[in-house]
Amino acid sequence: MKSARSLLPVLVLTPVAAIAFTTITSEPTGLPYDATAIVGPDECGECHEAEVSAWRTTHHYRSFTELTRRTETLDMADKLGIDRVRQADECVSCHYTRQLDMDHLDRPEVIAGVSCEMCHGPSRDWLEPHADYGVFGTKDAEPHEHRVERILTSVAAGMNHPDNIFDVARNCYRCHLGPDERIVNIGGHSPGSRFELVAWSQGEVRHNFADDPKVNAITNIERQRHMYVVGQALELAGALRGITGATGRGRYVAAHVARIKQTRTNLEAVAERVNVEQITRIIETLDATKVSLDNDEALNAAAATIEELARDVSENVPAADLAPIDDMLPAPEDFHGEALTP
Ligand code: HEC
Ligand code: HEC
Ligand code: HEC
Ligand code: HEC
Repeated sequence: MKSARSLLPVLVLTPVAAIAFTTITSEPTGLPYDATAIVGPDECGECHEAEVSAWRTTHHYRSFTELTRRTETLDMADKLGIDRVRQADECVSCHYTRQLDMDHLDRPEVIAGVSCEMCHGPSRDWLEPHADYGVFGTKDAEPHEHRVERILTSVAAGMNHPDNIFDVARNCYRCHLGPDERIVNIGGHSPGSRFELVAWSQGEVRHNFADDPKVNAITNIERQRHMYVVGQALELAGALRGITGATGRGRYVAAHVARIKQTRTNLEAVAERVNVEQITRIIETLDATKVSLDNDEALNAAAATIEELARDVSENVPAADLAPIDDMLPAPEDFHGEALTP
């Protein structure tokens, strides 16, 4: 058994052949979502004006026009042999929203930066049911059972509903743990963000107008507890997966190893404060796994187990059980960027 504390030594001891990076496949594998099911943010804006205004103040929005104007982008494209960043799957998958018009299947188009559906899910199939109050007409008149039914139908049709923190957060980590080894080590891309879900979702990204359209509310403390713990677990799982298939040490592997160590420290601090079996099991799963470059099967299995445990925390652990971690949660001054105040 290797504890996470010995991660660096383990990696150093692992014989790493001097494999040329050009042997890593860069074949675009398409996008991790169905581009034919994207309707675009303008459709959401028909009913979600405030949310769209908040989104328009974010890096996610601005990146649509700004990314290709940056010299770093052109440099990176040059090093990676990419002609057009806006058409390269390996950049589009994280920086843009691509729509594939069913009538023009050969002509996919980027229509926005990181937009609503990148986080809430491509909406062709859930758009109608999610806003349907049936005979009740309005939200205030809608009985609880109808609301529950409406949400279940939307989720079954592919919506990432914000009530389920795991579902929404998984998307953040897909992008924010950064791109693959080649794009980082050869292209010079950053190895992802120093991301933490509470701080990063409650600053410029925040758009909570459901209770009062004039107030962009900070999410309640109960949700923050879940966000923190689920976020740490997802980051850990993502970093374990990130090491699979990697060939060398470099900046890419170093960043993932640092994440594994940091999330272990944070989760241990959580485990010292609360008595939640799933969290203990996440740490045990990590400690029972040898973190090295030649152990992909075990690393993937550990990541899958940790994700299942994170989902379990998100869906089944009462927020009250996590109350002892409140002193670990980021304070409003640590939130990332300014939230729009209407
Ligand atoms: C026809 C109007 C309409 C459209 C179009 C629409 N929504 Fe909504 N949406 C609503 C209403 C009404 C609510 C409930 C708001 C509330 O409870 O205050 C809602 C709620 C939500 C919620 C909160 C969860 C929930 O179920 O209460 C999310 C997330 C959401 N919408 C995302 C989107 C996204 C993303 C789009 C575009 C792909 C979109 N909506 C398009 C009307 C619409
Ligand atoms: C796995 C997701 C992912 C992929 C794939 C990806 N990026 Fe990024 N990129 C990010 C994230 C996340 C950031 C923000 C990093 C941070 O917080 O420091 C970023 C930042 C950048 C920046 C700095 C932007 C700024 O405004 O500071 C550039 C330039 C960039 N990416 C270019 C590219 C190019 C070109 C490609 C394709 C070769 C690409 N990226 C592929 C996720 C990705
Ligand atoms: C589809 C990929 C993707 C998803 C999903 C995503 N992001 Fe991002 N995010 C990016 C990229 C790319 C950037 C950098 C944009 C730029 O600066 O050009 C970014 C930037 C940010 C920034 C601004 C960072 C700065 O430099 O100040 C915040 C905050 C942020 N994201 C939070 C989140 C949160 C919270 C979630 C999930 C709820 C999330 N993101 C989901 C790709 C994504
Ligand atoms: C970067 C990911 C991301 C993007 C982009 C995004 N959302 Fe969200 N959305 C979230 C998260 C995370 C929550 C839960 C936030 C919380 O609890 O603080 C949420 C919550 C919501 C809610 C419920 C708010 C409430 O008060 O309960 C609505 C409605 C919504 N989003 C609609 C939209 C629309 C419309 C867009 C596009 C204009 C959009 N979202 C873009 C991640 C995102």
